[in-house]
Amino acid sequence: MKNKLLCIFFILIAVKNTAQNPATFTVQTDKPIANVSSTMWGIFFEDINLGADGGIYAELIKNRSFEFLKPLMGWKILPHKEVWQKTIAEERQFQILNRPEKDATNPHYIHITLNNHKKGDFGLQNEGFRGIGIKKGLRYDFSVLYRLQKGNVKMHLELINGKGNIIGAGIFTPEETNGKWRKGEMSLTATDGDLKGKFHIWFEGTGVIDLDIISLFPADTWMGRKGGMRADMVQLLADLKPGFIRFPGGCIVEGFNLKQRYQWKKTIGPVEDRELLINRWNMEIAHRPTPDYYQTFGLGFFEYFQLAEDIGAAPLPILNCGMACQFNSAEMAQVNQLDPYIQDALDLIEFANGAVTTAWGKVRAAMGHPAAFNLKMMGIGNENWGPQYIERLKIFQKAIKEKYPNIKLVCSSGIAPNGDEFEFLNGELRKLNADFIDEHFYAKPEWFLQNAKRYDSYNRSDLSKVFAGEYAAQSVQTVSPDNKNNWRTAIAEAAFITGMERNADIVNMASYAPLFAHVDGWQWTPNLIWVDNLRSYGTANYQVQKMFTTNKGTDVVSILNKNNLPATGQDSIYASATIDKNKKELIIKIVNTIGKNQTVDINLAGNKIAGGKATMMILQNDNLDAENSLNNPFVIAPQEKIIDITDKLFTTTLMPYSFSVIKIKLK
Ligand code: AHR
Repeated sequence: MKNKLLCIFFILIAVKNTAQNPATFTVQTDKPIANVSSTMWGIFFEDINLGADGGIYAELIKNRSFEFLKPLMGWKILPHKEVWQKTIAEERQFQILNRPEKDATNPHYIHITLNNHKKGDFGLQNEGFRGIGIKKGLRYDFSVLYRLQKGNVKMHLELINGKGNIIGAGIFTPEETNGKWRKGEMSLTATDGDLKGKFHIWFEGTGVIDLDIISLFPADTWMGRKGGMRADMVQLLADLKPGFIRFPGGCIVEGFNLKQRYQWKKTIGPVEDRELLINRWNMEIAHRPTPDYYQTFGLGFFEYFQLAEDIGAAPLPILNCGMACQFNSAEMAQVNQLDPYIQDALDLIEFANGAVTTAWGKVRAAMGHPAAFNLKMMGIGNENWGPQYIERLKIFQKAIKEKYPNIKLVCSSGIAPNGDEFEFLNGELRKLNADFIDEHFYAKPEWFLQNAKRYDSYNRSDLSKVFAGEYAAQSVQTVSPDNKNNWRTAIAEAAFITGMERNADIVNMASYAPLFAHVDGWQWTPNLIWVDNLRSYGTANYQVQKMFTTNKGTDVVSILNKNNLPATGQDSIYASATIDKNKKELIIKIVNTIGKNQTVDINLAGNKIAGGKATMMILQNDNLDAENSLNNPFVIAPQEKIIDITDKLFTTTLMPYSFSVIKIKLK
């Protein structure tokens, strides 16, 4: 029903606005009016929807350190039996032990006693994150922290497919460790593939052994880094050529309460020392509970900075401002208790940029990166609001600017882009000359169409710039599990983004949110990129982003209709234009939101046109409900054609429901 109403909406627009004559636009090719910031189009990363653990962080073993609330979650005893069915004899055979006084960050481990055990008598199975993706012929790297207390033990490692067959095997023989923990490693190669495999460890021998951080990584991680990230997922990010990457969220920064807030210092250093935290998306969305969702922080702040560097994006960390999520506990640190929070921010700048002789620069260097990460900006608070936020922000702003005047701060304008709360925060932040005001838009496609002119009326002389930090058109409504990444939402976003691009002097950064979702483990939809255990694809919304990010340009030029107005939906057309001074190109972006061809005349004013062949890249689908998917990832993907520009006035046809990028050579 809702879809029908939306169709009617688009048709009504069409009937009302269909032009009798071709719409005419004039592009002033030789008069740049605003610089397009190098950080203009970026990405928003949050560990939601199994985005990090179970997603881009390539670890295949779930609950590898037995630290989940239920220490055997994700594990099964072999031969097959549920954990609750274990007998007293088995309890003597293995226990989960706790050593908080010795190891506060990783207290649990499994203690196993074997008595003349043969392979098949006793083992452990790990189910992975909704199964384990196994690729035929690929090497899998197993590692474990172990302490062989006494005896001789063999561990038979097996990759298992969905039918229960062994598709990769190896025998790991722990060595005597004299009561100390040591790391053991071995690799096995998959003889076959499976989307939802499992991992088995069978024990053989007589002895006592303790195990912790039982880990398995595919060898084909991004840049082949051990313990690294899924290459296919990083590649999709790299392909966007993002100007920045915001991390680690989102609400995850705030935490359900302050104890569960994201603390970057707990996410660096040796992986086994990173204290696990329940993921706030574990229980946040009532209709999509995910009881096995935890943050191991194997992907922590060092890795985020490294990722940013790898993909050429400016790092944009967001830190807690002393306020937990105001939808949840709304717990707040008193203003006179903010010191540790502020210190975290100051130390982070030193961690990222400090010389190797500084305390935190030394930590970075010890992790393998002596060079600075070149941090230039950071966010204080995610969707925090109210006078309480402003009060706290002022204290952060003073402390950070005093020590690091060049670090730009991203500040929250709450959860909605309008209304009393937004007006209050926006006003206060502008009084504070906030560097960036973080606006979030989760709204219907119609909202995006209607708001393509949002920034045309912003005050151009204001010092504060906009960071459209989270946006996504919602086909149903925010947090509905039925939201789709369909063409209707993506084309509406394209129309809206032309408004951001046209106002690049006001909007300096923008990112779609959320970024990743696992098809079997999501809490929130829509999302930019969907994955399963082996595959990933960019949605229609991703394709729209990519058209902007990879055709950015350096300067905005005007594109105006016959009434000298920007194209913000008259004749159902939305447009913006930039030039790329380095590549000597004019780049026109033009969106047709009705379901029929529209002919447009484009007048290229100025003396800059070289003429000749121009390229036109088109994202198009006649069906607004069309979507990309794992099986059909390119239903909505750019088609390219060459057009001739022989004159300063050229005519082109915009296909029904299309977003086109036209690139014309400049002199
Ligand atoms: O993107 C999903 C969530 O939406 C983010 O965590 C939060 O900032 C926003 O409310």
